[in-house]
Amino acid sequence: MKGLVLSGGSGTRLRPFTHTSPKQLVPVANKPVLFYVLDSLREAGITDVGIVVGDTAAEIEKAVGDGSRFGLEVTYLQQEKPLGLAHAVLLAREFLGDSDFVMYLGDNFIVDGIRPLVEEFGRNRPDAQILLTRVSDPSSFGVAELDDDGRVVRLVEKPEFPKSDLAVVGVYLFTSVVHDAVRAIRPSARGELEITDAVQHLVDQGSTVHSTLVSGYWKDTGNVPDMLEVNRQVLEGIETSVDGDVDDASEIVGRVSIAEGARVRRSRIVGPTVIGPRAVVEDTYIGPFTSVAEDCRITGSEIEFSIVLADASIDGVHRIQASLIGRKAEVAAAGEAPKSHRLVLGDHSSVRIRIQ
Ligand code: DAU
Repeated sequence: MKGLVLSGGSGTRLRPFTHTSPKQLVPVANKPVLFYVLDSLREAGITDVGIVVGDTAAEIEKAVGDGSRFGLEVTYLQQEKPLGLAHAVLLAREFLGDSDFVMYLGDNFIVDGIRPLVEEFGRNRPDAQILLTRVSDPSSFGVAELDDDGRVVRLVEKPEFPKSDLAVVGVYLFTSVVHDAVRAIRPSARGELEITDAVQHLVDQGSTVHSTLVSGYWKDTGNVPDMLEVNRQVLEGIETSVDGDVDDASEIVGRVSIAEGARVRRSRIVGPTVIGPRAVVEDTYIGPFTSVAEDCRITGSEIEFSIVLADASIDGVHRIQASLIGRKAEVAAAGEAPKSHRLVLGDHSSVRIRIQ
């Protein structure tokens, strides 16, 4: 079985925190989403992986390399334009040959991995298997309608009036039958060759299309509570590892991972929490469900249930909660007077200020 990971698409997006890097590299618990995708393919026993890349090919290739550190052999497949998920399958035809394959969208994430799903597919070997999850906003997804026996009858891409709350998750298992389907369909109203239409074509042709309901699914929609929640779920599973330098005046409680090169002085860190390489934490309390990325500097502060991205600094602020601090952002205490706030906020920022 082979893997096909989609990391193309255009590099321009207006959402916070992803406009400076490809959306597949958004970190969850200090690790890019795409790396979870690659790890879960390896865990499912899939080592021959094609990665479809677009405008942001250089950044993706720099992050992933030849795949050896994930235990994978990676082949990059350049897509000139984001012409659709089914177009990506078309262009990967030679790489895929007649193998069965898992297609995994590089900005999607199933927290518990895909191994049981790949095993189920191997046992039953339908022509295609899709994964579904219940969501509150189905109109931003492909939406499935099932019959009374749970068989897929209809798939509609981002319907204005969804017929169910069953969203199509960005992980698909296919046999080579899908190649005829992606050749048979035509571009949608948004000008893309939709994989949803290809799967619908399979259903219409009488091919067997299974569906499995999954939980623990996430994709970056630019929604901060969702991002904090997936960060929390992943941190629930971390192990303690202290490779950084922690002084005797500091206290580490629960499962905390402190990367090499990080420095902790006179601080209390309560897990589950991750501290990235070269981060400096001094005279600070870091509470549960917090990810502090590489090269951050947090001094004289308190923070919990938050994500701090690379190279940000926080100085003298009590207490930060449920927050997402962007790359190279600076948060500092203001002087006593005048009683005003000084803000430099990026596009689409959102701030809550306590009125005294
Ligand atoms: O995330 C799940 C959803 O993904 C499904 O529910 C939808 O049915 C499916 O069409 C897809 O919808 P999106 O519109 O959210 O997909 P998006 O354009 O964001 O692309 C998903 C990933 O695939 C992303 O990592 C970029 C990559 N991509 C996308 C296109 C259109 C490519 O590599 N090439 C492409 O041509």
